[in-house]
Amino acid sequence: MSDILIADQGPVRVIRMNRLDKKNALTLPMYSAMAAAIAGTAHDANIRCLMIAGGPDVFCAGNDIGDFVKAAQGGGLGQPILDFLYALVRCEKPVVAAVNGNAVGVGTTMLLHCDYVVAGNAARLSTPFVGLGLVPEAASSLVAPRLMGHARAFALLVMGLPLSAPEAKEAGIINAVVAPGETDTAALAAAERIAALPAQGVLMSRRLMRGSVDEIVKRIDDEADAFKARLQSQEAQAAFMAFLSRKK
Ligand code: COA
Repeated sequence: MSDILIADQGPVRVIRMNRLDKKNALTLPMYSAMAAAIAGTAHDANIRCLMIAGGPDVFCAGNDIGDFVKAAQGGGLGQPILDFLYALVRCEKPVVAAVNGNAVGVGTTMLLHCDYVVAGNAARLSTPFVGLGLVPEAASSLVAPRLMGHARAFALLVMGLPLSAPEAKEAGIINAVVAPGETDTAALAAAERIAALPAQGVLMSRRLMRGSVDEIVKRIDDEADAFKARLQSQEAQAAFMAFLSRKK
């Protein structure tokens, strides 16, 4: 079965990460598939809302760490990663997310670009970038302080302190906390509710609320430059090797 499942449920396009044996760690083909699924909604008037989901026990363990090692050796971050981020932030249709279990790294930072996030009460958001010798990505260095204030964004992005679902709701980056078995249903209900609103009214309101997308894209690029440099660092290499060779 594919690592990314795409299903249109009426007016809602559901994009589901499905590499459960690796906790939905994202590979380059997975980023490409998600980028295409998001971008493909632009000229499809039937799709009025997107929903990003993971598995019942894990949302996403972030970028595949083996790919980070390869990227460091090859010197590039991987265009599919950027394509996914560009598609997400340039998407003009509302994006809902359903989060169960761990959301690590880009698993958390992608949520900062979503419009409505439902989390199971055992969800845990974390961005261990700095501990891995890296820097924040996905424009999180711009968007997270705006959404939750500098102090909370610093604790999350720099100190790597995780947020429980209730803490993330309190910080303003999650809308609703539900029982884990109800996450997908609640997120789909929210997506259907959004999809039933006047489409142009939603589009224009959302544009006004989100401000400059170009500014967000520029921050993605600036962060990517720093991120690429950090991938080569001894700190990052040591952290990747420690993860890949850990004993369970
Ligand atoms: N990249 C590559 N493989 C990953 C991965 C990642 N980001 N996250 C998990 N995996 C793999 C593990 O290596 C393991 O593979 P194996 O079964 O072949 O040994 C499998 O997925 C299951 O992971 P495991 O760690 O045993 O699951 P867990 O439930 O104990 O822990 C996490 C889940 C998400 C907390 C833990 O896997 C983790 O911390 N992953 C790394 C997260 C990370 O740092 N991401 C990068 C952010 S920038």
